[in-house]
Amino acid sequence: MDNQEFLTALETGTIRVAEPDNGKWKVNIDVKQRILDIFHSSKVVDMSGNFLDKEPLNLRTFHIKDKIRFVPGGSAVRTGAFIGSNIVIMPPSYVNIGAYVDEETMIDSHVLVGSCAQIGKRVHLSAAVQIGGVLEPIGDSPVIVEDNCFIGAGVILVEGVLVRKKAIIAPGVTLSASTPIYDIVNETILKGEIPQNAVVVPGNRPKLDVPFAKEHGLTLGCAVIVKYRDDKTNVSIALEQLLR
Ligand SMILES: CC(C)(COP(=O)(O)OP(=O)(O)OC[C@H]1O[C@@H](n2cnc3c(N)ncnc32)[C@H](O)[C@@H]1OP(=O)(O)O)[C@@H](O)C(=O)NCCC(=O)NCCS
Repeated sequence: MDNQEFLTALETGTIRVAEPDNGKWKVNIDVKQRILDIFHSSKVVDMSGNFLDKEPLNLRTFHIKDKIRFVPGGSAVRTGAFIGSNIVIMPPSYVNIGAYVDEETMIDSHVLVGSCAQIGKRVHLSAAVQIGGVLEPIGDSPVIVEDNCFIGAGVILVEGVLVRKKAIIAPGVTLSASTPIYDIVNETILKGEIPQNAVVVPGNRPKLDVPFAKEHGLTLGCAVIVKYRDDKTNVSIALEQLLR
């Protein structure tokens, strides 16, 4: 497969950087490696419209048959990104190479879907959500958001965080691999993975184990699972769903 065929296979979803595998996610290292190889082996060229980039990595163009709404105003989807049908992309947003965004998902304004991120069906990525790219290290899992999740305004997900189905992340939550997630329903502390149906809000925890931090009343950020999704939660996010 030449580079162009490889990028087209990513765009049609016939190959993916990561895929579901019996409730787990399998990272296809060879696909990530091939993306990296394209960066390393190709030269920067002068593209139309005063853009300069590696030769095969231009922007995707869409047609009516793709059945998406790509709203004018400065968004870009790079080659090698899969965009499912009935997706809305509000400007300005950016979807990077290797990303997989499944059908009926909403990408609101100022959203970044970083390289290799895997976004499920009917996900709502609210305004200014930042999904970090995980291209390197090669074996690391990308950020994954499963079907029917609601990601609130300004949420930041990086370092291969996995958000399970129907979870809700409230505005402003930042999750990296080492952010502690306090589940006050099940009285447990998690890292790197949000369980199915969890409702997650931003929190703080006192830093008590270091005398200097304690003396100065320092707190560190964390995330808190305050509840699991119920009828009230569904009402809270219903308005946004009407816009899909
Ligand atoms: C999380 C959300 C869906 C509310 O869900 P809900 O099930 O109705 O939650 P509840 O009102 O029952 O709140 C449960 C607890 O979490 C707390 N909580 C809810 N949202 C919170 C937030 N954003 N930050 C901190 N705490 C929050 C509540 O105060 C409550 O705690 P309490 O019982 O001690 O008072 C809603 O706050 C939300 O984030 N909506 C999305 C907004 C958004 O990003 N829109 C997109 C715009 S582009």
